[in-house]
Amino acid sequence: MPKIPNSAVNGVITGWGRALPEKVVTNADLAKTLDTSDEWIIERTGIERRHIGGSTASLSIESGRKAIEMSGVDPSTIDALILSTTTPDRTVPATSAAVQHGLGLRCGAFDVNAACSGFVYALVAGHGLLAIGLKRVLIIGTDTLSRITDWTDRNTAILFADGSGAAVLESVDGPGQLLGWDIDADGSLEDLLYAEIGGTLKMEGKEVFRRAVRIMVDSAEKSLAAAGLTSNDITLVAPHQANVRIIEAACKRLNIPMSKVSWVGNESGNTSSASIPLALFEAADTNRLKTGDNVLLVGFGAGMTAASAIIKWKQP
Ligand code: COA
Repeated sequence: MPKIPNSAVNGVITGWGRALPEKVVTNADLAKTLDTSDEWIIERTGIERRHIGGSTASLSIESGRKAIEMSGVDPSTIDALILSTTTPDRTVPATSAAVQHGLGLRCGAFDVNAACSGFVYALVAGHGLLAIGLKRVLIIGTDTLSRITDWTDRNTAILFADGSGAAVLESVDGPGQLLGWDIDADGSLEDLLYAEIGGTLKMEGKEVFRRAVRIMVDSAEKSLAAAGLTSNDITLVAPHQANVRIIEAACKRLNIPMSKVSWVGNESGNTSSASIPLALFEAADTNRLKTGDNVLLVGFGAGMTAASAIIKWKQP
């Protein structure tokens, strides 16, 4: 991807919020009905429990409200809402319409579907809107994968879950946070992970794993090059929380120690669009980030999509 022109209006995240359904499902709970075990799931994925429930709109409204409150912006001044989701509540209209109404916003609202890479796609699109004149964009990544999971299929049921993360992005005069970015997709691989309309997720797990490591590394390297940085300059990685082994393999190739990774998948499983913001804002809320840190966001997903971004953290 091209370097960001110095003349481009950039942005910063000024508030964020997270939302997880109350209901917790442990590996032991799954093992009651599936031929699996807590030990197997932890060893092969790193996931210990996940949260299940709610709708994409309700979780988005919860995380979005927290982000707006934290930023202190007047909701009537938000210029656009981008909701990243691969599990909309309805086919028509976009779920962002319900979220906009629920948050009392009056602005352009649209959904983005790039599966688990979607939050980074939305972040990049949000910066694009700032570059052409908008001042404030609310970005939300939410998925309720439990609604399209086959709970009798141990290949997928152990992985997927529900959650939401949101960020208020505001334009700034002078240097902003986005240093480099990359978005990619290879539609020839769509059959590796898909759900028909009304159906449940079907996945070729091993092949997804193999491809995921490669495309995460590839995308991260492109963003680093665009930002003029090396992996040594990265302070924190907020990767897609699909499987800790995928993250370990990708970070090893990128030469980034796991101590720099925010891993929340043990608590929340694979929440698709929500997983990168959940990891990023967990790190921010636990004081793992300070102004000036270079943060790598990197994800992959059905499609197969990939996306990454490097942001210079600014503590509000
Ligand atoms: N519980 C217990 N055993 C299981 C199991 C489960 N849930 N799922 C598979 N197994 C068994 C297999 O049958 C196999 O048994 P065998 O050796 O007797 O044939 C063995 O465990 C190993 O299976 P395998 O498929 O090789 O496991 P894996 O290490 O590849 O892990 C995934 C499976 C799905 C966890 C892993 O491939 C993965 O995470 N893939 C990527 C998925 C992903 O990220 N999807 C989302 C993309 S956004």
